[in-house]
Amino acid sequence: MEALQRLDQLESEAPDRIAAASDLENLARIEAETVGKRSPLLEIRRGLGSLPDEERREVGRRVNEVAQLLGSLIAQRRSILETAAMDEALRAEEVDVTLPGRRPPRGTRHLIDAIQQEVVDIFVSMGYTVATGPEAETEFYNFTALNIPYTHPSRLESDTFYLDYGEVPEGTLLRTHTSPMQARYMELHRPPVYIVVPGRVFRRDSDSTHTPSFHQIEGLAVDTDITFADLKGTLAHFARLFFGPDTKTKFIPHYFPFTEPSAEMHAYADGRWLELLGCGMVDPAVFGHVGYDPDQVTGFAFGMGIERLAMVRHGITDIRALYDPDLRILRQFR
Ligand code: DAH
Repeated sequence: MEALQRLDQLESEAPDRIAAASDLENLARIEAETVGKRSPLLEIRRGLGSLPDEERREVGRRVNEVAQLLGSLIAQRRSILETAAMDEALRAEEVDVTLPGRRPPRGTRHLIDAIQQEVVDIFVSMGYTVATGPEAETEFYNFTALNIPYTHPSRLESDTFYLDYGEVPEGTLLRTHTSPMQARYMELHRPPVYIVVPGRVFRRDSDSTHTPSFHQIEGLAVDTDITFADLKGTLAHFARLFFGPDTKTKFIPHYFPFTEPSAEMHAYADGRWLELLGCGMVDPAVFGHVGYDPDQVTGFAFGMGIERLAMVRHGITDIRALYDPDLRILRQFR
């Protein structure tokens, strides 16, 4: 009767083990140990043949009973554990498609670029086209063609970055203003000319209102019968579009070698007069340098600093803020 005792024991102990199986692997081990090939159940089944008839029948019935019971308990437990494993896998791989995406931080235009574009757009709306020129320039275009005498202080090494290109007929330098494009453009184009020239310029200057590299926009209008009234009307219109429709402007006599007469335009903003740009009627000597007949054409020119416009508009007191890569500063001007 030893076999029957073992079956009773199996029948009373195995169900708790099966119910306690914590995962599928664990359950497979319990299955092998209770109903598998090397289990006591199989061992007993194999020994049936050597038992006397009556006992064989009794033990055989019990083996089937216990095998069936444990088999169905194992199947039940397996199905529970499989469902749990599937739920777990689904939870682990869950994707919430309704979550907003993660946006990479988006860059924006730098204030200097934005203002430059705004000024260009204003003049384009008045019929001007855009021209650009080299940052490395010859002394001829930067100074000589613009009627700037050899003795002019801006030609000094202390004011200008000279470049060494070896054996060239004239000196080379980083342009100190966008004005050289006046001469370059007129050399290549017949009048009428209506252009703006945005670009980077360079001077040996560095303090809270000057950086060694900054930006200007040059303007040039050459046609028949252009007068100082056209200059004033055009630039006052620009100031109103840039600063607001009520912006007052005034023109104060000044001196530039390449314009005659010359002026500074000041605009009234935030309760004070601000110098915004230099301008004037193109000097006949400049027309002479580029092969225009001063008796046939007249024109006006102007040049303004982009950083200055940015500082005036946003109340920036230190120009270096515009060149600081700290995004906390730059983000304020989006
Ligand atoms: N080039 C001058 C400067 O950098 C600005 C300027 C003044 C440009 C008068 C002009 C002009 O075209 O007519 O200070």
